[in-house]
Amino acid sequence: MSARFDPACILVTGGAGFIGSNFVLGVLSEQPQLKVVNLDKLTYAGNLSNLASVQGNARHVFVRGDVADTELVQRLLTDHQPQALIHFAAESHVDRSIHGPADFLQTNIQGTFNLLECFRAYTQGRDASAYRYLQVSTDEVYGSLGPADDPFTELHRFEPNSPYSATKAAADHLARAWHHTYGLPVLTTNCSNNYGPYHFPEKLIPLVIHRALKGEPLPIYGDGQQVRDWLYVEDHCRAIWRVLQAGRPGETYNIGGWNEMTNLEVVRTLCAMLDDMRPRADGVSYASQMTFVTDRPGHDRRYAIDARKVEHELGWRPIETFESGIRKTVRWYLDHPDWVEGVTSGSYRDWVSRQYG
Ligand code: NAD
Ligand code: TYD
Repeated sequence: MSARFDPACILVTGGAGFIGSNFVLGVLSEQPQLKVVNLDKLTYAGNLSNLASVQGNARHVFVRGDVADTELVQRLLTDHQPQALIHFAAESHVDRSIHGPADFLQTNIQGTFNLLECFRAYTQGRDASAYRYLQVSTDEVYGSLGPADDPFTELHRFEPNSPYSATKAAADHLARAWHHTYGLPVLTTNCSNNYGPYHFPEKLIPLVIHRALKGEPLPIYGDGQQVRDWLYVEDHCRAIWRVLQAGRPGETYNIGGWNEMTNLEVVRTLCAMLDDMRPRADGVSYASQMTFVTDRPGHDRRYAIDARKVEHELGWRPIETFESGIRKTVRWYLDHPDWVEGVTSGSYRDWVSRQYG
């Protein structure tokens, strides 16, 4: 196997969001020499409070800005000379993409195009083997599986069904083409649904915890039998670092937890865990708050990842089981009411009233 890729400085986009902030906090603590330049627009989904523990750390440079801003991205590359760009920034919520797809095209497609072009110009004339561009993507680009279908391999064709997944698929195609045409050292990861700390409470798991504790209905779309393959966020972050270090440029790696569950199973597990860790004052189970609501239009039925390639080639496997990961997650939300309070004001409330009435 070739030598391990070991950057001194990386440019991360979207590092104030859910996965990006977990990644930034993880690498700053595990890679004692690494410098991280963190470019984030701080949309409703980006929160500087996620990064409070690294405020003042000289190895972390936070820059507020847009990935589609050519001048800014060029300046960051020139000033900091990173060896790698890890692109997390995206509009990431399927329901929001259904209500308003324009921002998704702008950030996910135009933004990715801009980063690829800036990184191409920056590495032009240099030894490509000393650089990496890592595109963080989703299993949703592969579309929806039937109940008996095999999990998605890297060879599964792209069949995106939502505006969100269509824009992520477009971005993955651009990254692929920039490798094929220009020789850019591109790596792509396609991961399943993440959960864990700093997850914005518009997504199923934090939404259910948040609403359960507030005594509000827990909305289950359609029949609740849709299947997702859940992965603890720190396992995803470790996989990204492993792919950066040892992945082969031009390759894509599927990342997942071998952990398929229906939405109903997930919500029931969360209710049982909360009944145990923070029982309701009236002694009634949180499950009594479960409410079936109108289904999401075009709702994908099942996602599942075949993660054998990243395991066999790069030796990555998840550390957490769903049981251990979800317990840590519920504990984290119970211990961080201030974080939840801070992110669920303003635009969050507008969104909730639009989506759930
Ligand atoms: P998130 O919505 O929590 O965070 C996105 C971050 O990007 C935010 O901090 C936001 O401020 C920033 N951002 C948005 N538009 C920007 C722009 N134009 N310029 C700069 N910054 C911008 O998303 P997440 O769940 O952390 O997902 C991160 C990446 O991982 C995304 O690319 C997503 O497609 C991918 N992914 C997510 C999951 C999941 O389960 N959450 C699974 C697989 C892949
Ligand atoms: P979500 O967390 O939005 O992730 P994704 O759509 O990217 O998989 O949703 C996970 C699953 O939970 C998905 O099948 C939709 C469903 N869901 C609900 O049933 N109720 C809700 O309120 C939300 C937000 C999601």
